[in-house]
This record gives sequence, structure tokens and C-alpha cells, in this order.
Amino acid sequence: MAAVTRDTCAALDAADALAPLREQFDLPPGLIYLDGNSLGVLPCATAGRVQDVIRREWGQDLIQSWNKAGWIDAPQRVGDKIARLIGAAPGEVIATDSTSVNLYKVLSVALASVQAADTDARRRVIVSERDNFPTDLYIAESLARQHGFTLRLVETGEIAAQLTGTAGDELAVLLLTHVHYRTGRMHPMAELTAAAHAAGALVVWDLAHSAGAVPVDLKGCDADFAIGCGYKYLNGGPGAPAFLWVHPRHLAQAVWQPLSGWMGHAAPFEFTPGYRPAAGVKAFLCGTPSPIALAALDCGLDTVLAAEALGGMASVRAKSLAMTELFIALVAQRCAGHGLSVQTPADQALRGSQVSLHREEGAYAIVQALIARGVVGDYRAPGILRFGFTPLTLRFVDVWDAVEQLLQVLESGEWREARFHQRAAVT
Ligand SMILES: Cc1ncc(COP(=O)(O)O)c(C=O)c1O
Repeated sequence: MAAVTRDTCAALDAADALAPLREQFDLPPGLIYLDGNSLGVLPCATAGRVQDVIRREWGQDLIQSWNKAGWIDAPQRVGDKIARLIGAAPGEVIATDSTSVNLYKVLSVALASVQAADTDARRRVIVSERDNFPTDLYIAESLARQHGFTLRLVETGEIAAQLTGTAGDELAVLLLTHVHYRTGRMHPMAELTAAAHAAGALVVWDLAHSAGAVPVDLKGCDADFAIGCGYKYLNGGPGAPAFLWVHPRHLAQAVWQPLSGWMGHAAPFEFTPGYRPAAGVKAFLCGTPSPIALAALDCGLDTVLAAEALGGMASVRAKSLAMTELFIALVAQRCAGHGLSVQTPADQALRGSQVSLHREEGAYAIVQALIARGVVGDYRAPGILRFGFTPLTLRFVDVWDAVEQLLQVLESGEWREARFHQRAAVT
């Protein structure tokens, strides 16, 4: 890339068709927020909408709002909006619970389905990446213990070998996070799903860092199950409901998922003592949904779906790649000699919407010093400075300014100050 200047970045902003989408957000003035991969920015619409749910729907209409305001159907209604972003059809996605709980439900069903077909009990292995997000591994570990499976953790480069030969014969479920939380590496979903199916196994995809960040085509990839977060790129707010998707072929018959609560019952308001699963993905609901949280998530989704009129996720992806490419180039151009290495793949096909830098010394403190200067990224052990690029809220000049601040933090050595080394509970 030819040497870039701040003016080049300003020209990119002037030509950016997605630029108006930034106005949908209540961004603190002067802040460069590179952490939308961890907690999305507050949409302007959210506070008013949540206020309305609280004051009018709850305050005035009280219990009637379950019907009148449609609270009861919100998990499906919001799920239908998510479906548009992940290559699923209406009625196939629900917004509910947390990602961890949703994984528990879908992985249980996947294991039970393999077990039912595997009469000689040869498929008893769940394969995942050693470096997968820990909650996924903890849930898989627990289910493996409960149901007599082995959780086999492998390095990224060893996944393909697990899908053929003897390993493939033992494989029950391949559990992967599409875009890696720490490195930003993206797996080839279609290829790995096809290989796992050829081995006779099922595939569960965690879309926490994909939904709203990169185009996802679950149906096109013929995936089996997917889960993901509402509070990252979907801008649903802290602790927003997560989502889950199940391929319709796994819903042909009523499904017993392990958390068989009344909201997943075929007729919850008949109050019968026996459980009868609802048809379709609704069976994956468990307890009472939060209309307040779902209203906030709905507002977040609207900010992402607003891109549909401007080319949709393909345009979001193009801007995201342009931004990550620019950031990588600027770090190389301006911060050379400061001990930073790029952990995110140079190959765009393997890159999500974040860039992770590694530094042997001081990575945590450098992130804190940047935050003090109004550039918010985050730190992930060991030694990773993580920067998320959310095309809806960011400008190309923000990328320039972030690198300028990074350079100043490194050149001044201010990150060595004691105040930047104090560890908070959340990094
Ligand atoms: C890949 C991945 N899965 C799951 C989670 C968290 O899930 P939960 O909604 O259960 O907190 C995260 C959180 O950062 C994540 O990065």
C-alpha cells in the first residue's frame, strides 16, 4: 500500500456510502471506539424505546403487554431479524438466554442426535480448538462428562485431520467459533462443514464474532446448529439476549432440548403437568423472556439492518476489510520498531472484523494508556492488543487517529507509568 496520510483517510470517508449509518449511534464525542466486538455502541433509538417499554408497556398496560405489545413473541420476532444477517429463514432463529446456555442446548441435541444414529457407539468425540473461547470449551466439557463423550482439543492446523480417517469415524460433533475471539482468524465455514458431514458428524458454529460483522450463510453452508451474542456487533446492549439457530432438518420431529422449560412447551398456557416440546426452534426457549432486553436488542439489530439499503453485509464486509487492511498497513508504516506483530491473518478470506496485535512486554498497559487517550480497544492474555472495527460506527480517519495515538503511547513510553499496570476485573 502506498504511504497513507490522514487526508487519504478523509477522502475514503467522503466516498464511503455507509458513512451516514454512524448517525444512528450515541457516540461519546471525541472517542475512538475499537471495542464494538466486545460491546456494541448504544444506538440513539434504544433509550427512548426502552423507556417506552418501561413507562407505557409495563407501567401503563402492565400484564396486558404480553399480548398487546407482543412481548410473548419477541424472541421469534427479534430472531427473524437476526436470521437476515446469518443466512437463515424466518422462523429458524430465536433470541434468548446467553450464548453459553444456548450452546448447552444445541450441543446436547446434537450429541443426542448422533447417539441415536450411532448404534455401535463409535462416535464419541467432540472436537474443538484448544484456543476456542473458554465458555464453549467449558460447556462442551460438562456435556462430554455427562453423556460419556470425549472432548478433544486440537490446534487450528490440526482440525482438518480430525475430519478424515479413524479420527473422522470417531467424530460426533465439530464445535468451532467462526471468527476467533483473540486472533480474529475466520474459519472457512462451508469447507469445514462439508468435511465434517462427509465424516458423518454434525457441526455447531459459534457466531459471537461473526453476526453483524461478516456475511454468514448458514443455510448455504449446510450447517447444523449455530449460536451467537447479541451484545457485540448486534449492538443489543450489555448482557443482551443471545441467539440460536437450528437447521430445519433437525426440527422435523419435536425436539427435547435439556432445558425443557414452559416457554418451549407446545402450549404453555394449558399448564399441563407433562412436557410437550413446541414445534420448531421455539422448543429451545426455556423461561420467561425479558421484553426490556429484547427491545434494546431489537434497536441494535435495526442499526445493522439499516445497511441493507446500502448493499447489506457485503458492503459492511468491504468497509471492514478496508479498515482492517488500513490499520495493519498504518501500524507497519508508522509503528515499525516498537515490537508489535500482527496476529490476525494477512489473507482477507481468513480475517474477521478485528485486528489483534501482539507485544511481548506491556500489552495490557499500552491498551490502558490508549484508553486514557480516548482510543478504546481491549487486552486479551497473553500479550494481545485487540482492536475491533465496526464499519457502522467508525470512520477511516478514526483508524488514522488510533494509530497516531498508539505511536505516541509507544514513543513516549507513558505506558510504563504504574497507573496503566493496575489490573481491573474486566480487561
Ligand atoms: C466466541 C464467544 N462465545 C461466547 C461468548 C460469551 O457468551 P455468553 O453470552 O454466554 O457470555 C463470547 C464472549 O465474548 C465469545 O467471544
